Amino acid sequence: MNKKIIICILVIISILFISGCNKKIEKDKTNTKNNEVKTNNNSVVLYFSATGTTKTVAQKIAKYSDSDIIEIIPKVKYTDKDLDYNSDCRANKEQNDSKSRPEIKNKIDISNYDTIYLGYPIWWGTNPKIILTLLDTYDFTGKTIIPFCTSGSTDITNSVTELRKYNSKLKILDGERFTSSTNSEYSIEKFVEKSELNKEEAVKEMKVIINNKEYIINLEDNATARKLVKMAPLELNMKDLNDNEKYYYLSEGLPVDPYKPGHIEKGDVMLFDTSCIVIFYKSFDTTFDYTKIGHIDNLPDLGSNDIKVKFEQ
Ligand SMILES: Cc1cc2nc3c(=O)[nH]c(=O)nc-3n(C[C@H](O)[C@H](O)[C@H](O)COP(=O)(O)O)c2cc1C
Repeated sequence: MNKKIIICILVIISILFISGCNKKIEKDKTNTKNNEVKTNNNSVVLYFSATGTTKTVAQKIAKYSDSDIIEIIPKVKYTDKDLDYNSDCRANKEQNDSKSRPEIKNKIDISNYDTIYLGYPIWWGTNPKIILTLLDTYDFTGKTIIPFCTSGSTDITNSVTELRKYNSKLKILDGERFTSSTNSEYSIEKFVEKSELNKEEAVKEMKVIINNKEYIINLEDNATARKLVKMAPLELNMKDLNDNEKYYYLSEGLPVDPYKPGHIEKGDVMLFDTSCIVIFYKSFDTTFDYTKIGHIDNLPDLGSNDIKVKFEQ
């Protein structure tokens, strides 16, 4: 082979090698986007925002859920005067008119998405009427809708109830309200994680082995229980506290929805704070906040020693 041909072959091999490396680098970049909650579906954030508050939240949700983002743009933009809710403004008139369906300017294609994060501001306790225009115009059947809102103080619950009533065939999760102070990166990331878990079918029970004896935890239908199931199998050395509970701090936090149970029943499995799993083996009253994971029937007194506990799927 003459020298020129050999050089040519070497150059071609080098080009192929370098382009292969670049492709790998590109691929690695897409796999390691900062702090995204890994989702295995096609999701989009669809939002309406009259003054920009919901837009800021929508953008963060899109970032953390690795979703596309589409704004719902009204055909007639809302001016400051239209939004002056202390007057007889356009927004108030629309909210008071059950037939009002303000037109949407842009065409929205949701056909490729199975998860829709749906964002809006609260107007007079519920969603703006343009959200109903959206539900009338496009077919959301078979998709999971995860609502979120911003508001001065009103919770999202009523608007979600009304959306479910408006079209009872749709799968609409509970959703979350944000304000300018609660839309931190952390709370958005937790919301996305919780929503992704809540989309899945609930697992009703999980096996737990305590001191080599098998029990069943009847699980709550919440993101905390779903996450624990995902983390199993787990083998924990649980410490005793106050002769009534065994606890263990996991290295990773779970989604939380804390409440004050007031009373603990023997067999309750709870999450304290964000990462402390607690199994109660005595009943008593409490003033602490917990997120309930489930309940073990027939749990005996576990004694005051530290114990080995295996959680299995
Ligand atoms: C017509 C109108 C009605 C509103 N009604 C409520 C309400 O019932 N409860 C509440 O907490 N905030 C209410 N707000 C405040 C908005 O929900 C809040 O400012 C929201 O974050 C605005 O979102 P945006 O900037 O994305 O449009 C209302 C605002 C307007 C313009």
